[in-house]
Amino acid sequence: MTDLDLQAAAKEHLWLHFTRMSTYGSSDVPVIVRGEGAYVYDDKGKRYLDGLAGLFVSMVGHSRTKIAEAAAKQASELAYFPLWSYAHPSAIKLADRIAGLAPGDLNRVFFTTSGSEAVESAWKLAKAYFKLKGEPTRYKVISRDIAYHGTSMGALAVTGLSAIKPDFEPLPPGGVRVPNTNFYRAPDFISQDLEQFGIWAADEIERAILREGPESVAAVFLEPVQNSGGCFPPPPGYFQRVREICDRYGVLLVSDEVICAFGRLGYYFGSERYGYQPDIITFAKGVTSGYSPLGGMVVRDEIMEPFLSGPATFLHGITFAGHPVSTAVALANLDIFEEEDLLGNVRKNEDAFRATLEKLTDLPIVGEVRGAGYFYGIELVKDKDTKETFDDDESERLLRGYLSHALFDAGLICRADDRGDPVIQLAPPLICTQEHFDEIEQVLRATLTEAWKRI
Ligand SMILES: Cc1ncc(COP(=O)(O)O)c(C=O)c1O
Repeated sequence: MTDLDLQAAAKEHLWLHFTRMSTYGSSDVPVIVRGEGAYVYDDKGKRYLDGLAGLFVSMVGHSRTKIAEAAAKQASELAYFPLWSYAHPSAIKLADRIAGLAPGDLNRVFFTTSGSEAVESAWKLAKAYFKLKGEPTRYKVISRDIAYHGTSMGALAVTGLSAIKPDFEPLPPGGVRVPNTNFYRAPDFISQDLEQFGIWAADEIERAILREGPESVAAVFLEPVQNSGGCFPPPPGYFQRVREICDRYGVLLVSDEVICAFGRLGYYFGSERYGYQPDIITFAKGVTSGYSPLGGMVVRDEIMEPFLSGPATFLHGITFAGHPVSTAVALANLDIFEEEDLLGNVRKNEDAFRATLEKLTDLPIVGEVRGAGYFYGIELVKDKDTKETFDDDESERLLRGYLSHALFDAGLICRADDRGDPVIQLAPPLICTQEHFDEIEQVLRATLTEAWKRI
């Protein structure tokens, strides 16, 4: 197929996700054809720094033949067998490895193929667990404003982005929202002290549990660092207080680490970085660095326990979950993490990454740089002193009308997002070093300077 054919066929037959397809009536569909390390190349040979690791996925970077070879070996040995009543060696080995890496007694791994399925599975497990335990009225889930937890019906009900829900309502009942930990936009009465703000935000979870009735609440779903809205780290003590609240009311704490696990924050699990013990961790993305799809949840012994006797069964499964090729790929991916000490690379360089991005705060449009590890959000504002944000029209012109294209044209793949206030998001592969940070800063500086002139 020639390039022209690819372009025409994409326009005619391919449906892009979360994309205004009308845009491609008048412009080309970007076609990425190969990757190498921290870079990808389009069909015209142009190079881009993959500043978002695809979609928070490519932890070890592109073109790792070692992983590709592990996939080929597994496919020729055993391409497929389900985990429905059977096991296969690479799923067993990966479950054992993940249980060894996960904090505390999170020892049981249930695989899925994606993050949405992981979230969906965790909610279903929480409901089924409480039914087995004799608390059948617990079904509600608490999650935070603007937090993204996936798109399948259950995961969408957990998601806190109101704008992406109406087209699909009614959703499963039971999703309850609480404030997130965006300190930059903290309510006035609690905006002076980060720790106090964290206590307030955690206590909002307790208030929600009491409002709903503790006997009706099954779980709280939280990301270690909330992605949507632009990287909200937890204030000091936040998760410790949330853990206490969950224990007080017998509610499960689910750490949704679809983005934050496998090195994004410099640890295998984000909960490890912030020192809290979840009851369930959901993961996906980085577990394979995207060389094959895989997700899952890792569950505490106590949650597994009622399913270990008599006829008790978790009546839930997915044909391709724990696929042999994907689990073999994950093992090879984790080998690279160890051989190259990628967690060490993130921990060693995260301050330099942050400092490089913080140079941008001399621009009038940059309100705040926030995040942790290799995971940052840059909030764009109209007025730095008052923190005034852009109105819907300005945001539309700024992000969709200019920044998204301009950043891509300048050779940087990142996300310009206004699901909360307008932000630029960065989550590069974990192999990146200062030269990549500098490249990101230079492209952002030029593009944001131009954006400010156009507003
Ligand atoms: C925190 C979180 N949970 C769940 C999901 C859904 O994952 P997937 O797109 O693999 O279904 C995502 C996707 O970005 C996510 O960031």
